[in-house]
Amino acid sequence: MQTISSITTLRERRRKWQIEGESIAFVPTMGNLHQGHLRLVEAAKKAADIVVVSIFVNPLQFGPDEDLDAYPKTLEEDKQKLEAMGVDVLFLPTSDDIYPRGLEQQTFVEVPGISYMICGASRPGHFRGVATIVCKLFNMVQPNKAFFGEKDYQQLQVIRAMVQDLSMNVEIHGVPTEREDNGLAMSSRNTYLSDEQKQQASVLYETIQAFAAQVIEGRRDFGRLIAEHKIALSAAGFKPDYLEIRDAKNLLYPNHEDTRLVILAAAFMGKTRLIDNFQFTLPVEL
Ligand code: PAF
Repeated sequence: MQTISSITTLRERRRKWQIEGESIAFVPTMGNLHQGHLRLVEAAKKAADIVVVSIFVNPLQFGPDEDLDAYPKTLEEDKQKLEAMGVDVLFLPTSDDIYPRGLEQQTFVEVPGISYMICGASRPGHFRGVATIVCKLFNMVQPNKAFFGEKDYQQLQVIRAMVQDLSMNVEIHGVPTEREDNGLAMSSRNTYLSDEQKQQASVLYETIQAFAAQVIEGRRDFGRLIAEHKIALSAAGFKPDYLEIRDAKNLLYPNHEDTRLVILAAAFMGKTRLIDNFQFTLPVEL
């Protein structure tokens, strides 16, 4: 595995791959790699000749009171994992290379509508930061395919919308969420949890699944279901941020014709904000 920090060197490699007719799969990450990231790499390896993984903790997607400085950094372990997976290039750009004119002057990519709801309402500017960095990384790596985890379901839909809106020539692939034995979705932020909190945190996914089961069984009083399940989350030690049921494609409130739905939740366990979701198809129209 070659580690490249310079955008110019990456572009030279990219040109060589193009001449040799190699297809490129890209996995953007913020490091602190866990099994969920490795699943993305695995999917990328199956889908293309060359796999590029980036590690860049993107300041633009963190709010002023969020965990940018504390975000876990485990570069040496990350490198070993990627090397073992047979990744071709690890792209490790610096903040100065990515934001040469500084964050204040940076041109943004903003995907309206879908970026402002749900997580976007709780974290204003977050998806603008995500869309901007992913667009920039796509311009640098110029992949044929890119891989994102379904755990960040809204992020995946924002990126799909950006690619469509800006006519980007990249195929976007979502990869199912990797879970701990108790169902907790794998996340770099799980490292902030104590063992006891990790056990309690399984209730987030259990709640989402229970909610989905009730909808599949025929319940349509979504407001009441949300309120009941938020109480269940609080009883399990969570401070719920949101719990929503939406059309799986555009994340709008579902109407009676929608059969492909997603339940999304964010909740704080102590100071740690966890997110999760579950997609499902209704047997009949709502
Ligand atoms: O999902 C992430 O790790 C980040 O949001 C991403 C896509 C790498 C952009 O910084």
